[in-house]
Amino acid sequence: MPEADKEGERYQAGTPQAAPGFFLKGSHQFDWGLKNRLARTFNPQSGRTVMLAVDHGYITGPTAGLERIDLSIVPLLPSCDALFCTRGILRSVIPAESQKPMVLRASGGANILREDMSDEEIAMDMEDAVRLNACGVGIQVYIGGEFETRNVHNMTRLVDQGLRVGMPVMGITAVGKNMKRDAQYFRLSCRILAELGATYVKTYFVEDGFETVTSSCPVPIVMAGGKKLPELEALTMAYNAVQQGAAGVDMGRNIFQSDAPKAMIAAVNAVVHQGLKPNEAHHLFRSLKTNK
Ligand code: 5RP
Repeated sequence: MPEADKEGERYQAGTPQAAPGFFLKGSHQFDWGLKNRLARTFNPQSGRTVMLAVDHGYITGPTAGLERIDLSIVPLLPSCDALFCTRGILRSVIPAESQKPMVLRASGGANILREDMSDEEIAMDMEDAVRLNACGVGIQVYIGGEFETRNVHNMTRLVDQGLRVGMPVMGITAVGKNMKRDAQYFRLSCRILAELGATYVKTYFVEDGFETVTSSCPVPIVMAGGKKLPELEALTMAYNAVQQGAAGVDMGRNIFQSDAPKAMIAAVNAVVHQGLKPNEAHHLFRSLKTNK
């Protein structure tokens, strides 16, 4: 029996956490500037976001689908609620005329040539995030990893710097090669990141017990996409994640590596903001793909 079925009741996933006066849980007691940045990143009507993740190059170089961000990603900007990218791509490629909220990758230091990619440092000054008019910064933490203490400390330093200027910090639950991806692990890591001050948390979907991950995390969770899946599977995963309490998605490869990224992001939007069922969203994807 899945663990969530045995213990699920204690998480009371059906009872939403109150957030008096603000639309995002865990965020109602922040100051105006931080709330305003959140209200630009997350849609206040649906309470959710479709964030497009294109930060991969900081670790994997010119990733498939991101070889030319000017050609593949800039045309998708109107279709996302926010872009998650590095400051290098922001300055060099993203038009400053864009009205889209930008969430900036704030860690770096490892790459795919290394055995362990968790050995990261803060790689951006908060002052630069403010200068770039960012709506948030993101940093990953490998709970249980070799550099866990450093990862955690990096995030808490960023949280302290962010609170000084009203900048939300997205804590990302990164998973090492040999770590188990299940509800128990993600409950642990999401909760640790929230307790240590992450404004919202990006984490992976798990089939069993994802609602216990979202309900035991006192701040919003956005679902990470992960490796490219067939479109129907990716849409089903996004649907299940939001139905089970995620405040949206921060997806990359499942959008920009699709044969029809524009059609795919439209379908993801329909799932996240309108609650379209996976089959209906897949139908939308196919019809938009045919008419592109
Ligand atoms: C890893 C990350 C990535 O850099 C990226 O944003 C992942 O996006 P996707 O898995 O959807 O391609 O945050 O922790």
